[in-house]
Amino acid sequence: MPVSILAPGADVRDGVHDVAGRLVSGRRGILAVDESIPTMNARLAAVGVEPTADNRRDYREMLLSAPSLEHGVSGAILNPETLGQTTADGTPFADLLAARGILVGVKVDTGTSLLPRTAGETVTEGLDGLGERLAGYAAAGARFAKWRAVLRVGPRRPTARAVTANAHALARYASLCQAHGIVPVVEPEVLMDGDHGVARCALATSGVLREVFRQLTAAGVDLAGTVLKPNFVVPGSRVPAAPPAEVAAVTREVLGAHVPPTVPGVAFLSGGLPPELATAYLAALQPSGAERLPWQLTFSFGRALVDPALTAWAGRRDRWADGQRALLHRVEANAGVLRPAL
Ligand code: G3H
Repeated sequence: MPVSILAPGADVRDGVHDVAGRLVSGRRGILAVDESIPTMNARLAAVGVEPTADNRRDYREMLLSAPSLEHGVSGAILNPETLGQTTADGTPFADLLAARGILVGVKVDTGTSLLPRTAGETVTEGLDGLGERLAGYAAAGARFAKWRAVLRVGPRRPTARAVTANAHALARYASLCQAHGIVPVVEPEVLMDGDHGVARCALATSGVLREVFRQLTAAGVDLAGTVLKPNFVVPGSRVPAAPPAEVAAVTREVLGAHVPPTVPGVAFLSGGLPPELATAYLAALQPSGAERLPWQLTFSFGRALVDPALTAWAGRRDRWADGQRALLHRVEANAGVLRPAL
C-alpha cells in the first residue's frame, strides 16, 4: 500500500531545521559507519575477520558503544542492516545511540549503476520505493539520511550528463526525506582517484555543487533543513598531497561561490585521505579569530575515523577497548579543531 507523504507543515520544517542544526554544531561531527555489506565484508576480511552478519554487528557495536563518543559525535550514519540489528545484549542500535544523545542516520541509496551514453560514469540508485523505506526508517528512529553521488575527474569528466543525473537524484532524495521529517545529508563526492591537480578538482567540484543546488532549489528542498557532505578540494591521489593552507583556501573559495548561506552546515567526507591529513584540512578550514562563515564546517568521516579502530580491534574480544581508544583518538582530534562559525 502506498505510504502517505506528510504535509510540509510547520512541525516538519521545524523538526528538520533543529536536527540539521544539531548535526553540525556544538563542536561535534558525524561518524559514518554505513559501509555497504560487500565493502564491510572486504574490510573485515582484510584484517582477518570472517565476514558474517554477527561480525559486522560486533564491529559496529565496538565503535558505537565507545565511552563518551557523544562528546565528539552528533550523529552516526548506519547501514540499513545495522539499523535493523541489536547489540549483543538485545538493544536496538537506534536506542543505544538515542540514549547517548547521538542522532541516528541511515544510508538510503542503493549504490551506483553505469550511466548510459557515458564512458563508465555512474548514477546513484535507490529512488524506487524510497518513500516507503523512509517511513520505515523514521519509525525505527532515524532522524537523518545519507545519499552519495559519485563523480570522477578525468579527460572530459565529469560530463554534464553525469552531473545532471546525479544532482537530480540527490534533489529527489532530499525532497522525499524532508516530506518524511528526515534531514537529508546531501553527498556529491568528487573522487580523489587520478593524477589531476587541485585546479581540476576545484573546477569539477564547482560544477557539481552549482548543479546540485540548482536542482535542490528547483525541487523545493528547504536548504535550512539539509546538511552538505562534500569532498575537500584536493589534488588526485596519485600526485603529492597539497598543504592544508592551499586546500583550505581553494575549498573555501568553491564553497563560498556555490553553497547558499541558508545551509546550516558542511560536513566533509574523508574520501580515503590519511586520517591525520583529513584532520589537518578540517583544522585549516576553520574560521580564525573574529572571522565569520555562513556555515558550520565539521566532519562526516568514515575511513578517517574508523580505519585505525578496525586495525586495532581486528575482531578480537581482548582488543575491544583498543579499537574504541583508536576511534576516540580520531574523534577527539577532529572535534578538537572545530570552531563555531556563526
Ligand atoms: O559515503 C561515504 C562515507 O559516508 C564517508 O566515508 O570518509 O571514508 O569517505 P569516507
